[in-house]
Amino acid sequence: MGVFFISMLRGVLAATALIVVAATAAQQYQYPNNLDVPYVPTNQPTVEAMLRIANVGPNDYVIDLGSGDGRIVITAARQFGAHGFGVDLDPQRIKESTENAMAAGVSDRAVFYQRNVFDTKLSEATVVTMYLLPRINLKLRPRLLAELKPGTRIVAHDFDMGEWKADITATVRAHNSTVYYWVVPAGVDGLWNLRVADPKGEHRYDLAIKQKFQEINVNTSAAGKAGVVREERLDGDRITFVLIDGDDYMKRLRFEGRVNGDTMEGTMRGEGSAPRTEVKWRATRAAK
Ligand SMILES: C[S@@+](CC[C@H](N)C(=O)[O-])C[C@H]1O[C@@H](n2cnc3c(N)ncnc32)[C@H](O)[C@@H]1O
Repeated sequence: MGVFFISMLRGVLAATALIVVAATAAQQYQYPNNLDVPYVPTNQPTVEAMLRIANVGPNDYVIDLGSGDGRIVITAARQFGAHGFGVDLDPQRIKESTENAMAAGVSDRAVFYQRNVFDTKLSEATVVTMYLLPRINLKLRPRLLAELKPGTRIVAHDFDMGEWKADITATVRAHNSTVYYWVVPAGVDGLWNLRVADPKGEHRYDLAIKQKFQEINVNTSAAGKAGVVREERLDGDRITFVLIDGDDYMKRLRFEGRVNGDTMEGTMRGEGSAPRTEVKWRATRAAK
């Protein structure tokens, strides 16, 4: 309760700070009146922390939603070798960021478009960055989960995504900035039929998976007998769980695999008193 209240308060204070800073700046420049979030740039140490936490590299395509003066995409291109684009509703920000990309020598890899974040196609991204407001993060959340490929990383400055808990939360103390990091989870909710291709004979399990964002709970049965499942984990499209023999708790079967739509496949290894064999498994979704 206390922690919840403090984090709420921090949210309100930070939101107020954004508005005050923007109000001062607005005396010189007339902002478009359709902005969902005022312009406040992320301090450079936090920009770098965001990109490091997301492990941005040359293979990444970074999209900054509400890109301001372009510093996040420009830093991703110049210091981390990535490419990508930013979108902002404010034409002045697009002009500045395009000039800044040119000055930084990365205009071939950091591009800026005058566009609403809610009209932006997200599916190409491997990394999405945001410094918006809690309400806007929550409004974007269903699209981030539906349109981004499993495994896509998201980093946000200062504001979280409510019930979708961050995988990593870090603080840049000198600036009192918080960085939140998420990996988009594959959708695994439902009933699955799993087959293990053991050379000694095929084993079948029925899995019932309950999912809340990246948190999963796996229940299983084989030939109508319930099994015990531990160490369930979903990291993007990678799923892991350990099946424990109800009659011998030392007999453990570790399943590791990748999810691809309504199919998952991988390898199963014996641990504890189970034979140390490694065999392939495959599961298909029977119902959502
Ligand atoms: C808090 S600033 C963040 C700027 C930059 N991402 C950074 O971290 O330095 C938010 C930016 O979002 C832009 N913005 C607000 N509402 C928007 C919308 N609906 N679509 C696109 N951009 C928007 C504002 O013009 C502003 O530049």
